[in-house]
Amino acid sequence: MNLFKKKLLAFILILICGKSVQTSADFTFQSKIYVAGHNGLVGSAIVRALTVQGHTNIITCNSKEVDLRRQDQVEAFFNREKPEYVFLAAAKVGGIKANMTYPADFIYDNLAIELNVIKAAFKYKTKKLLFLGSSCIYPKFASQPMVEDCLLTSKLEPSNEYYAIAKIAGIKLCEAFNKQYPDQTKFISCMPCNLYGPGDNWNLETSHVLTALIQKIYRAKQAQIPTVMLLGTGNARREFLHADDVAQACILLMQNYTDNQQINIGSGQDLTIRELADKIKTILGYTGEIKFNAEFPDGTPQKLLNINKITNLGWRPLINLNTGISLMIQEYYKFK
Ligand SMILES: NC(=O)c1ccc[n+]([C@@H]2O[C@H](COP(=O)([O-])OP(=O)(O)OC[C@H]3O[C@@H](n4cnc5c(N)ncnc54)[C@H](OP(=O)(O)O)[C@@H]3O)[C@@H](O)[C@H]2O)c1
Repeated sequence: MNLFKKKLLAFILILICGKSVQTSADFTFQSKIYVAGHNGLVGSAIVRALTVQGHTNIITCNSKEVDLRRQDQVEAFFNREKPEYVFLAAAKVGGIKANMTYPADFIYDNLAIELNVIKAAFKYKTKKLLFLGSSCIYPKFASQPMVEDCLLTSKLEPSNEYYAIAKIAGIKLCEAFNKQYPDQTKFISCMPCNLYGPGDNWNLETSHVLTALIQKIYRAKQAQIPTVMLLGTGNARREFLHADDVAQACILLMQNYTDNQQINIGSGQDLTIRELADKIKTILGYTGEIKFNAEFPDGTPQKLLNINKITNLGWRPLINLNTGISLMIQEYYKFK
């Protein structure tokens, strides 16, 4: 999509999501907003959405300029910039393979980023902070669709336990500041489902499922390989949402949400990995066979979010999965 089409799409999204563009008295177009992780999938979508809505004072810095795991660097940045609003979308993120290979990095990096940024936001009087977690914080066998209340009610999925524990700590850190300093902090948390979108990770070692499937099936088609082997049983169910939809939700939450409990963001629908692979196969026009290697773990059998809380605030996802897959295939053509 060229820039004009992107801006047009964003404008249409804004018109449809009227409620999400009403800027509250405090959160104005001139407010100083720090988007941490602005080069990432979610952070870049938030910056795009804020820019299109007319926000003019967005600040960013990459991990080379400020390593958010380093308390001294984070303190210096907040002391200098004093952001009024913070979207905390910087994190160490990856798929099941990366989580299982680098558990120490996943727990350490994420805890360090959360501790430093949330504490600095408190110290330098940030008016409101939105912390991004993930649906993997919920128990492996939580009843579906998962409501916010099921947090910490039973055991986590082992393959991403370290990442999930760091994210739960982030939620609790926000809650604890709000409890101890009710007049000083407004730190809120949101938990999106599996995401995809522009700027997604196409590295097969660390990527998430949707980009991995597009690449594997596309390559098989190009090389005329009759079979594609995918990891897991294919029976795990997953929920997907486009990053531009998440960005709209995050901005709405920054404007309107003040509960101390985390809030889910999802499409409200899931499908099996096998069904997802079949959709991609059809859209790409691959005629070979898709097989599954059941020796590789599936992760959580199902993680569908209950999205009643956020839909009650007036937010709805606008990009359906078929459209989203087609957009991602266009992204892949640009990337490869
Ligand atoms: N992707 C998903 O499917 C998904 C699903 C649910 C929730 N989420 C949540 O959404 C948030 C963002 O995820 P994402 O998919 O956008 O991740 P991403 O694409 O991997 O981007 C992460 C960003 O974090 C920054 N970052 C990482 N370590 C850093 C450090 N030490 N110092 C400073 N910046 C650092 C990176 O900055 P540089 O580029 O400058 O290095 C990068 O831009 C995460 O909290 C994640 O849990 C994501």
